[in-house]
Amino acid sequence: MFLKEVYTDRRNRLKKEIKSGLALFIANHEAAMNYPANTYHYRQDSHFSYFFGLPHPGFAGLIDFETGEEILFGNDLDIDDIIWMGPQPSVAEQAAEVGIQKTLPYSKLIETLQKAGTKGRDIHFLPPYRGEMMIELGHLLGYKPSEVKENASMELIKAVVKLKEIKDALEIAELEKAVDVAWLMHTTAMKMVKAGVVEQKIAGAIEGIALSYGGAVSFPVILSQDGQILHNHNHNNILQEGRMCVVDAGAELLSLYASDITRTIPVGGKFNQRQKDVYEIVLKANMDSITATAPDKEYRDMHFIAATRITEGLKNLGLMKGKVEDAVAAGAHTLFFPHGLGHQLGMDVHDLEGLGENNVGYDEHTTRASQFGTAYLRMGKKLRPGHVITNEPGIYFIPALIDKFRTEGQFIDFINYDKVESYKDFGGIRIEDDILVTETGSRILGKAIPKSVAEVEATACNE
Ligand code: GLY
Ligand code: MN
Repeated sequence: MFLKEVYTDRRNRLKKEIKSGLALFIANHEAAMNYPANTYHYRQDSHFSYFFGLPHPGFAGLIDFETGEEILFGNDLDIDDIIWMGPQPSVAEQAAEVGIQKTLPYSKLIETLQKAGTKGRDIHFLPPYRGEMMIELGHLLGYKPSEVKENASMELIKAVVKLKEIKDALEIAELEKAVDVAWLMHTTAMKMVKAGVVEQKIAGAIEGIALSYGGAVSFPVILSQDGQILHNHNHNNILQEGRMCVVDAGAELLSLYASDITRTIPVGGKFNQRQKDVYEIVLKANMDSITATAPDKEYRDMHFIAATRITEGLKNLGLMKGKVEDAVAAGAHTLFFPHGLGHQLGMDVHDLEGLGENNVGYDEHTTRASQFGTAYLRMGKKLRPGHVITNEPGIYFIPALIDKFRTEGQFIDFINYDKVESYKDFGGIRIEDDILVTETGSRILGKAIPKSVAEVEATACNE
């Protein structure tokens, strides 16, 4: 946890954004895995953590925008809890650690909310993303669970996005630490990617590294020689000579700040010429779009810089044809790059996405495209200093998509389908870094993770 002034300052800044009503933030409940007493690794709600810091279940925080009062609701442990979990500080002591003076038992929360409700006061809350929390909010606020999301406060969503999307020095330092853990995860993976090894062995080893730093992985590890499957959580393949392994993995610290890094590693440590040719295109897309990333530019334009580099490169290889500008405008590149360049990163790996992708990645000036592929771009809007985003272009040869587009006669002026057929066994390549937008441009966060062909080959196991 940070010093209490950090949380006081965050709540004070929230109070400046909303003038009336109350804001309710509930700590996540424990989530049962296969029976009630056997729970998943506990994960605090990121918004509760941002404003109230405490890393345990059983709490709710209430902020009164009219009186400025802040209350932490929670129950002191009884002897049974202490026997099983050990002694814990009292609720009042924990509240003091995050700068809150007033505490009440959790059972008083419903009464407090009902009292505010009868006075016609607005109770602002964020949309829940877990079933249990939907039920809890419904119970507290008098909604059916199915009605909870639609009653979430757009005013609070906008205020929270405004505060949380701009990272301060303390947060940037945490994000850098999370990338440094990812450095160890990825360099470890590079050394393990050899023929005959089952993917799970590498996935388990790098997940263990994240755990050993006190947190967890920031999302289930994506690791596969079938890198053309964008989010492949199946780790059953035995790595084969001549293939590449896409590793998309990051760490979440105890502070919940996350990293999200992708590297693509040739099995056995050496790229063949065909792999190298495609890898260099993805690398150029990644590096040129990072170089262009700066305040006041729309992230969608960075996406199109990457799309243009990919189209130019694939045209040079004879896989695409025609005028590059026209191909990109038509969306022909989406056969190979069917996702967006990146997303915001913070306490959630897709930061703030639970508040609605369009509320986070778009605004009144930049609206989401409807074109296949580009519509998946999660962050399109203008960049500001303090934004932290991922940059993750890729080139994939997805047999089902190639067949679909070919059968439908899509982009016949821009795609050399006969040549593309010969790449159906290629797999995919993605390269991802975590980027901070600075006052003057941007920089890659954390310790440099091997990325060029020479760096990856030098780090990888050569057998
Ligand atoms: N790293 C997984 C994702 O960005 O969706
Ligand atoms: Mn990502």
